[in-house]
Amino acid sequence: MANTQRAQFSSRLGFILAAAGSAIGLGNIWGFPTQTASNGGAVFLFIYLLMVFVLAYPLLIAELTIGRYGNANPVRSLSAVSGGQKWIGRLLGLVGLLGATGILSFYTIVAGWLVGYMVSPLLALTGFTDAAAWLESFSETRNLALMLCFMVPTILVVRNGIANGIERWSSRLMPVLFLLFVIMVIYILFQPGAMEGLKMYLIPDMSHLSPGLVVSAMGQAFFSLSLGVCVMMVYGSYLSKTANIPKTAAQVALLDTGIAFIAGLLIMPAMFVAQHNGVAIYSEAGALLSSDTLVFSVLPAMFDTMGTAGIFIGFAFFLLMVIAALTSAISLLEVPVACATEEFRQSREKAVWWIGGLITIASAVIVYNFGDLFGLVVTVTTEYAQPILGLLFALVAGWLWHRNEILKELVQGSPELGETWFWKIWPGYVRVICPILMLLVFGWDWI
Ligand code: TRP
Repeated sequence: MANTQRAQFSSRLGFILAAAGSAIGLGNIWGFPTQTASNGGAVFLFIYLLMVFVLAYPLLIAELTIGRYGNANPVRSLSAVSGGQKWIGRLLGLVGLLGATGILSFYTIVAGWLVGYMVSPLLALTGFTDAAAWLESFSETRNLALMLCFMVPTILVVRNGIANGIERWSSRLMPVLFLLFVIMVIYILFQPGAMEGLKMYLIPDMSHLSPGLVVSAMGQAFFSLSLGVCVMMVYGSYLSKTANIPKTAAQVALLDTGIAFIAGLLIMPAMFVAQHNGVAIYSEAGALLSSDTLVFSVLPAMFDTMGTAGIFIGFAFFLLMVIAALTSAISLLEVPVACATEEFRQSREKAVWWIGGLITIASAVIVYNFGDLFGLVVTVTTEYAQPILGLLFALVAGWLWHRNEILKELVQGSPELGETWFWKIWPGYVRVICPILMLLVFGWDWI
């Protein structure tokens, strides 16, 4: 087919960094620490790790394999693995595409706030105090302006395509991100009060375990690994046939989970350092006071106590978060763009502008109806669409796709695969165990 000329990641490392770049984002640095802090610390951490290993990792392999086999956009890849039921695949691809679009439309708003918190201290430093205060206070105009500041670079990177855009940026930015993180963790652990946060993060208190916690941990694992809305499928379609998918997926999952763990190592102690310095974190009853804005209140408070150095550390931290969010946003935009370039035979340039434009309009609608729409879009896309679609992808891979075809696809990158314990377990696991586990998690919460 015409697909032989299809773009590819130019190196294995490039792919891993790009896929990890997609996975690592607001979910790790904002979602995970916030959830951990409000769900009792270590228990959430352990259930989350379990969910990544038991559910998310096997499904990540499924998504990557479907994408690479299809060597096309998700709509086509999914219909290619749907056996006689091509319409099911096409429908799932389309719903996934809409899911990715929905996630991007709220993601850019939150990422925009990061841009605001990054620039604001610099403005304050140079005397533009009014502008700095405006950037840190909630308003529709500010949300719109900052969303645009984030959306335009996202569109520009995706416009440049795979090797030049997504891969080049991810492989440059990811190591910087990692380094900045390690420096900040070392710094915070030497501050007074940090040990209390560290204890809460690492020593489990089983009384916090509840069905709701398990559902949240599952959702967090899916969100963090970018599963369920065809993002990893699209990236898989650009993956070279000689790459070993189970191994690559493990590396991506480890990097992502590692960064989430390190983010917890930074933010949990930072909360208690802030508390030590007089910022109220937990209410008398022990509930987190500002759960959604934890990162936006605790950290600037911490930076403030550092004097001038805090301005630069704060700038570096928010820069790091913007970078991480950018490499995630480009993966979300790539899903509809890949579909449009192949299905409508459009140039990437053209597809990126009209799709990016539509998503910008959707974000603007959310900005102007924030109270009604923001939470709704987040819930519908991440709590329902992602796990349910992830489950349906598993069912397609497990029940409609021929086992031999899957093996043929996987052995290209690891010739011995048919003999390994991985192959003895994974197909049946995705076919039966994953769906049952997921139903158990939802079921336990409902009853
Ligand atoms: N995983 C990213 C994060 O942790 C966000 C993201 C990128 C995403 N692509 C996705 C989330 C697809 C869900 C689905 O911030």
